[in-house]
Amino acid sequence: MVEIVDTTLRDAHQSLIATRLKTEDMIPILDLIDKTGFYSIEMWGGATFDVMLRYLKEDPWERLRLIRERVRRVKLQMLLRGQNLVGYRHYPDDVVEKFVELSYKNGIDVFRVFDALNDVRNMATSIRKAKRLGAIVQGTITYTVSPVHTLEYYLKLAEEIASLEVDHIVIKDMAGILDPYTCFNLVKEIKSRLKIPVDVHSHFTGGLAIANYVKAVEAGADFVDTSISPLAFGSGQPGIQSLYYALPPELRPRVNMDVIREISAYLEKILFTKYKSLLDVKIFMPDPNVLEHQIPGGMISNFLQQLRQMNAEDRLKEVLEEVRRVREDLGWPPLVTPTSQIVGAQAFLNVINGRYVVVTKEVRDYVKGLYGRPPAPIKQEIIEAVLKGEKPIDVRPADLLKPALEDCRRELLEKGFNPSEEDVVTYCIFPDLALEFFEKSKTRQKNKIEKAVEELWDSVLGV
Ligand code: CO
Repeated sequence: MVEIVDTTLRDAHQSLIATRLKTEDMIPILDLIDKTGFYSIEMWGGATFDVMLRYLKEDPWERLRLIRERVRRVKLQMLLRGQNLVGYRHYPDDVVEKFVELSYKNGIDVFRVFDALNDVRNMATSIRKAKRLGAIVQGTITYTVSPVHTLEYYLKLAEEIASLEVDHIVIKDMAGILDPYTCFNLVKEIKSRLKIPVDVHSHFTGGLAIANYVKAVEAGADFVDTSISPLAFGSGQPGIQSLYYALPPELRPRVNMDVIREISAYLEKILFTKYKSLLDVKIFMPDPNVLEHQIPGGMISNFLQQLRQMNAEDRLKEVLEEVRRVREDLGWPPLVTPTSQIVGAQAFLNVINGRYVVVTKEVRDYVKGLYGRPPAPIKQEIIEAVLKGEKPIDVRPADLLKPALEDCRRELLEKGFNPSEEDVVTYCIFPDLALEFFEKSKTRQKNKIEKAVEELWDSVLGV
């Protein structure tokens, strides 16, 4: 029987309304979510941490605790970018371990760990820590299409991930370019060779995700990731209400469709009122072009914007072709944060200035090995052109990082804060955002106390 990982409170609103769902708007449906019969809800990690601090001015840890208080039966799940945690660069092992420990302590049951390059060394520290704590761990295959990403490649990768004793293997199709028969073969082969539960995570971007899930279930997948319509489809996950009817009765997940209908009505109400300004028709529509060029939609609109500024809109096709060549030069990285930005920026520069005449710092770091090991070797002539004689590193990138936790704690104390363990970790990951956030909440706290004293004073005077 397939089980459901519901992404409404993380990937769905991250993909469809720029991660802007506020905690206060999640609270009214938490009791209902606990009655859905979902295996887990993905509700933390990915971009939520950054966006909460940067735009929503909320404490991510507070959201986690609030949801945990109200959701007891359904498991809580987070997306962790391996050594990058919920940020965009590699963090030292002491920060990674502390982050995992506190996430578990505050309520996360299931950790889904991935790495943009599928470099298992970048996932190992967080996976081992989560396993030691007793959490459920999903090791992730980041899916992409390229000449080196064959069935054999994925099976070898799955085996490597499974050797870290993860509980499940996830096939993560963030770009929505997985197709039903490749999906069927991947699930079938991983399950028969490794005897491990498999979860398929697909986006509807190419329009194929429901078909992928039907074939995944046929092949014996144990979990699939959906969200609740209307916060579904487009570049997000397909809606559970549709997947349910796509499967024959004997294969349907055991979920409570009445409760799901109630949640759906609530989502519809807030989406068309409070979140109306965030609804972008293009994002809620599938874009089958992605199946041909495999380039994420966001990347193309960025290119167009930049080309327009240079009056060179007619060169888009050249840039898109260059993306493919740069990917090949760099050993076919999947296009996901941060590799999509690295490849995209270099492809653009190559078209405008000539190939590798100007090289970004990120590409230099990438070629040096500071992001990890690419799926295929980087072309020798590119290494020479970019590093000019310097040698690439041959260790895991985080091996070069010094412990940071205690320094972060000391810095916060010196700045006059009295940080919790969680505050210290937040500061390690996003120092500037964290400081700004702590300052604001300090003032808010102070105002609250002053107001309370004033009210008390008034009431005394009243007597
Ligand atoms: Co996703």
